[in-house]
Amino acid sequence: VELLGVAVRWPLVGAPMAGGPSTPALVAAVGDAGGLGFLAGGYLSAETVAAQIAQVRAATDAPFGVNLFVPQPPEVDRRALENYLERLRPAARAAGVELEATWDDDGWTDKLEVLMQDPVPVASFTFGSPPADVVRNLQKAGTKVVVTVTTPLEAQRAAAAGADALGVQGIEAGGHQATFSDRVDPDTGWGLLALVEAVRRRVSVPIVAAGGLMTGAAVAAVLTAGAVAGQIGTALLRCDESGAPDAHKAALADPSFDRTAITRAFSGRRARGLVNDFMRLHPDAPSAYPYINNATRALRRLSAARGDPHGFNLWAGQGFRLARSGPAADVIAALGAELTACGVGVR
Ligand SMILES: Cc1cc2nc3c(=O)[nH]c(=O)nc-3n(C[C@H](O)[C@H](O)[C@H](O)COP(=O)(O)O)c2cc1C
Repeated sequence: VELLGVAVRWPLVGAPMAGGPSTPALVAAVGDAGGLGFLAGGYLSAETVAAQIAQVRAATDAPFGVNLFVPQPPEVDRRALENYLERLRPAARAAGVELEATWDDDGWTDKLEVLMQDPVPVASFTFGSPPADVVRNLQKAGTKVVVTVTTPLEAQRAAAAGADALGVQGIEAGGHQATFSDRVDPDTGWGLLALVEAVRRRVSVPIVAAGGLMTGAAVAAVLTAGAVAGQIGTALLRCDESGAPDAHKAALADPSFDRTAITRAFSGRRARGLVNDFMRLHPDAPSAYPYINNATRALRRLSAARGDPHGFNLWAGQGFRLARSGPAADVIAALGAELTACGVGVR
């Protein structure tokens, strides 16, 4: 099938998963298995993004994409942020780490420069739409541009900026919600199928659907609803090539973790993860991304290194219990076989 200008065997996109899971090996394995893999450029330096692009190219001839975070406005409620940092301070002191609540633009300009100097087949964006001139420049360089949206209005804005395709993310999705703004918009919280249908009626741009897709049958459902592909994140987290911490992989299959919820506790931006002690302790964290993400980084790293699943973010979509382990090639092959069985896999 043709997907985002490239030829792939399956209408399956391996979601970019920043913070470790999306290793170059995972991206190459998804591509070799006939899906479209994505490197996660978020949190990495521009140099590391360039190095990972080179690693994927060395490992496979399969096409792949790179995902970047659109910078967030630096203005936040300082008092709410300060109050939250005060609540985190005892844990930080006990662990001997600093809370560095800084703003940054995630290396936006430098990473765009990497993509302009050395173009990849597809670039996707989350947390907003890049400006129209950035979209145009990437397209001139030969890159298809995907903008992730969570509401019909965001879809309209992304289409107006010139996006070649939309990542349509439902509320079921693991990880951060891609909302253009983290301020609570009364129109956020769409379930995936309703959103795909609503977006399809609003804009005529191809849709890649994401959120809670764990089986070929679920991917078949979004294809039937009008998407050109399903994007899977949580379904790849337990794979051998996934760089998720072992404690994260184990928690996904541990019966004592039995539900997900949306939280701002770890990053200051709404994200879905397995409910753990850190989330339960901080139900009312304010909207302050990336300040809180930077502030909690050292604490989260320490917990992950210690294998403590209650001290760091266990991003997971609502379908997490169906996440399979083993080589990514086997997961993609199983999804492809299930899709074929549904009779809607290859159009
Ligand atoms: C651990 C994790 C990290 C993620 N990181 C990113 C990211 O860096 N960029 C992005 O656009 N989406 C990110 N997402 C969201 C995925 O693109 C996708 O929307 C989501 O995984 C779909 O839901 P699912 O996890 O239920 O499959 C992440 C998801 C997870 C689970």
